Amino acid sequence: MKRPARPRVLFVDGPNLNVLGSREPKIYGKMTLADIRREVTRAARREGAAVVFFQSNHEGEIVGALQDARGKFDGVVINPAGYTHTSVAIRDALIYAGLPALEVHLSNPAGREPFRRESTIEDVVVGRIAGLGGYGYVLALSGILNHLREAGGLAG
Ligand code: DQA
Repeated sequence: MKRPARPRVLFVDGPNLNVLGSREPKIYGKMTLADIRREVTRAARREGAAVVFFQSNHEGEIVGALQDARGKFDGVVINPAGYTHTSVAIRDALIYAGLPALEVHLSNPAGREPFRRESTIEDVVVGRIAGLGGYGYVLALSGILNHLREAGGLAG
């Protein structure tokens, strides 16, 4: 019998997340992006999913990654970082990708400066996870896989 294909999830991280660990650790935690990816990869192995990671400090590159994801992935986990609050282009690219997405934030933007309360993608994602540090990414993987199983009829 043919084994069901593994769900493919793209993780997209925006600007300044490449310096996690040394960037305002009181707000963003001590985990580096590599630490987070290691935990997500471990969880993906347990859950039978395939994960791909992309990080960029450039808006246009993030737009490109989302455009390329169309038809190649089953779901997206995205932390647009500072672009969360400003980028119409990332919102438009996410809509173009046409994939269910979860928005993740290490900190809880709702409890910070007023300008962080706005998100250009909050109404085009399936849901949001915020304030749980790097662990939020592991929860986001689990959450998007559960969503895909329930909404998209993935096996298992
Ligand atoms: C962030 C929150 C944003 O407001 C901020 O600009 C970031 C990180 C978070 O993960 O908590 O760069 O997205």
